[in-house]
Amino acid sequence: MTRDTGAPVGDNENSQTAGPDGPVLLQDSSLIEKLQRFDRERIPERVVHARGTGLFGEFVPTADISSLTSAKVFTPGTKTPVFVRFSTVMGYRGSPEQARDPRGFAIKFYTQQGNWDMVGINWPIFFIRDAIKFPDFVHANKPSAVTGVQDPNLAFDFFAHTPEATNMLTHLYTDEGMPDSYRHMDGFGVHAFKFVNAQGEVHYVKFHWKSRQGIEGIRPQDIQHSIGADWNLMTDDLYNSVKAHSYPQWDLYIQVMSPKDLAKYDFDPLDDTKVWPSSIPEEKVGTMTLNRIPDNYFQSTEESAFAPSRLVPGIEPSEDKMLQGRLFAYADTQMYRLGANYNDLPINRPIVPVNNNNQDGKMNYDDRKGEVNYEPSTVGEIAQNARYKYVQTPLSGTTQQTAIHKTLDFRQAGEYYRSLSDMDKADLITALSGDLGRVTNDTNKYTMLSYFYKADSDYGTRLAHATNADVSRVKDLASHLSDN
Ligand code: HEM
Repeated sequence: MTRDTGAPVGDNENSQTAGPDGPVLLQDSSLIEKLQRFDRERIPERVVHARGTGLFGEFVPTADISSLTSAKVFTPGTKTPVFVRFSTVMGYRGSPEQARDPRGFAIKFYTQQGNWDMVGINWPIFFIRDAIKFPDFVHANKPSAVTGVQDPNLAFDFFAHTPEATNMLTHLYTDEGMPDSYRHMDGFGVHAFKFVNAQGEVHYVKFHWKSRQGIEGIRPQDIQHSIGADWNLMTDDLYNSVKAHSYPQWDLYIQVMSPKDLAKYDFDPLDDTKVWPSSIPEEKVGTMTLNRIPDNYFQSTEESAFAPSRLVPGIEPSEDKMLQGRLFAYADTQMYRLGANYNDLPINRPIVPVNNNNQDGKMNYDDRKGEVNYEPSTVGEIAQNARYKYVQTPLSGTTQQTAIHKTLDFRQAGEYYRSLSDMDKADLITALSGDLGRVTNDTNKYTMLSYFYKADSDYGTRLAHATNADVSRVKDLASHLSDN
């Protein structure tokens, strides 16, 4: 055993004291170091997605899509190492893994062109469509600022003013809102991104990971027992499966839209509360296999840093207003959570060399050398290639603060509800009415019921019955809502 300096330790179980009964000596620097290190073991947990589980694996492309993107991660014949972190959203770091929550599905691809992060979830949509609402959305859904306990009164107070969440709430309260395993769920990039090919041509693209293990959720009547039996279910299931050499796999599918088609739909294709229609076919482009458990939880899962802004040539962000906010927020929180040099940590380090003039900062140990730490320079120029410039996007209009025009807040929620089996519908009503029934503010409760009724009258009526609400009042409120 050694100290942090490498010097040998003689006794790790007995502090140095003044005589047999005397006080402990300050000169026992090995003891002091041990206590100091222990005192500093925790870093801030993620502000959201604090409870997570990571696995290493690989991504193999299965189709040549070079006509769409120059990203080398899709070059046939390549194999790209990945690190995936699955998570719940609202709970604390040690909270039970069975929670009614979306599940984070974040993938870091260590590509030959630098790291690409796809920071998605297990559904194709989200609750809100503008990043400016995200802190409010999280505050209302995280544990109360007074009690430290989650409260549906706060959540539905927010959602009663957020009709665009109706589609996502409908997903959340199905059995898929309580997956029985991280292996048993799909993943989605949610937002549209841009694929850019070698000629600089742009296509909008959505990503969908389809689980080869199928999709399974926990039914409402089984949740309590499941939590009681093992509230680390998701991690135990995932790691036990890898230990048994049963490696979970997902196939990656894409939907592609030409920029000229953006305006042709009655919804906004860059609105992340919407799915793209099935008339835009899904094309399989690769397979991901997860096969290795990290041997250090903190250094992998806790210190990993995913960001939707971490893109590679050939993949760019779309103009989606949520995505645009996310492009800023993740690297920002990571500089706070892990420090300015977080990209040097082994889990975040690219497999290709990093070469720029960013330097110094706390805990810096990167490879930058030499005194030319500026550019341009005659003696130390770092080559740049104009073909990696961002693609040019046409603009119109004025600066403004306005909501999107095509809101269509309810229709896709209704379509989704009608696509569910009888059992799934019944479980949705049970789970959603359980939380709605706890809402004490009548205005908020009836507003929420009117949103679900507007999505589908059977859906709203069943929820109204299950929460002892007056159906005719719900129906009347819904008749004043527009859906365009
Ligand atoms: C503007 C809206 C959003 C903001 C500001 C935001 C912000 C954040 C922040 C600050 C973190 C913690 C990151 C860290 O500490 O490393 C985080 C984690 C995460 N977010 Fe978001 N988020 C937003 C929307 C979304 C959406 C729409 C999705 C799904 C597509 C999403 C998926 C995730 C995932 C999966 C993680 C966990 C990543 C990990 O495992 O480390 N977020 N988000």
